[in-house]
Amino acid sequence: MENLMRNCFLFLSKNKTITKLAKKYGLRLGASRFVAGESVDQAVQIIKNMNKKGLVVTVDYLGEFVNSENEALNMTNQTIKTIEAIGKENLDAQVSLKLTSLGLDISEELVMTNFRRIINKAREYQVFVTIDMEDYERCEKTLEIYKTFKKEYEHLGTVIQAYLYRAEKDIKELDAYDASLRLVKGAYKESSEVAFPDKKDVDENFKKLIRLHLENGNFTAIATHDDAIIEYTKQLVKELNIPKDQYEFQMLYGIRTDRQFELIQEGYPMRVYVPYGTDWYGYYMRRLAERPANVWFVVKNMFKK
Ligand code: FDA
Repeated sequence: MENLMRNCFLFLSKNKTITKLAKKYGLRLGASRFVAGESVDQAVQIIKNMNKKGLVVTVDYLGEFVNSENEALNMTNQTIKTIEAIGKENLDAQVSLKLTSLGLDISEELVMTNFRRIINKAREYQVFVTIDMEDYERCEKTLEIYKTFKKEYEHLGTVIQAYLYRAEKDIKELDAYDASLRLVKGAYKESSEVAFPDKKDVDENFKKLIRLHLENGNFTAIATHDDAIIEYTKQLVKELNIPKDQYEFQMLYGIRTDRQFELIQEGYPMRVYVPYGTDWYGYYMRRLAERPANVWFVVKNMFKK
């Protein structure tokens, strides 16, 4: 049953008609639990409060699978606006983005031009940028673009998904680039030809990748809400004597907030991924797919104002 719901939410996350409707009608169905508003001003207020409480963040202006040049340009401008807001408001924040939102599916030239504008602005304000990893189809291209820009911009990271068979090979190759990596389990629906179908294997691979990247001496963000992986990492950084500026935990806005504070109190570096924007629907459906129990939360909210 849980699997069926998961597949259903992942299917819905890519439905273009519902995405359009969701944009039009604004944050609904309990999405505000996971999305920090629709405007940059709303996001800034939330981030300021989080910073005050000791949480650092990475901000994502939501948008993905964009298929018009205008939309890609709008996404680029909004991300630049986000970087400017971080600089001007002196926020302890980085930026995350998806290359399909900048035109990856339209043309290489377009995505490179848009990304370059963002990187130039990030350089001006000294803001770290992480390129999120999307579905398998976009993985190779995303890594190529990452490698191209990493040569010229130091404050740049990307994501490796532990459910992919190719993950270990990618991490080994990225070592030559001193890559800052966020390691995650992986959020998309992939076939067993490219990804481990069993959760147990994904978890084992996740642990292996964390060790590999840390032992290579590279910055590693362990992005998970899974206590078993968090405990494993705590032991590992102790065993390998990893300094606090070489790793951090990351979690998503609205998920396990109590655990986020506990980790800070225990002295661990902790960053929260804060999405905002009108294009919240696909992101929200993936969060529901990860934990169908959250649907009860949605149902309850439907009866509130
Ligand atoms: P898992 O799903 O096994 O959950 C472990 C436990 O965490 C659950 O038992 C539950 O207690 C809790 N939990 C998990 N999800 C929850 C939820 N939605 N609500 C409440 N509790 C929940 N993916 C990707 O493909 N590309 C990317 O670029 C990114 N980027 C990214 C950034 C950050 C900061 C995070 C934290 C995650 C991502 N992800 C991602 C998503 C990632 O791949 C994965 O889908 C989710 O983090 C869920 O997996 P967990 O590791 O949390 O474990």
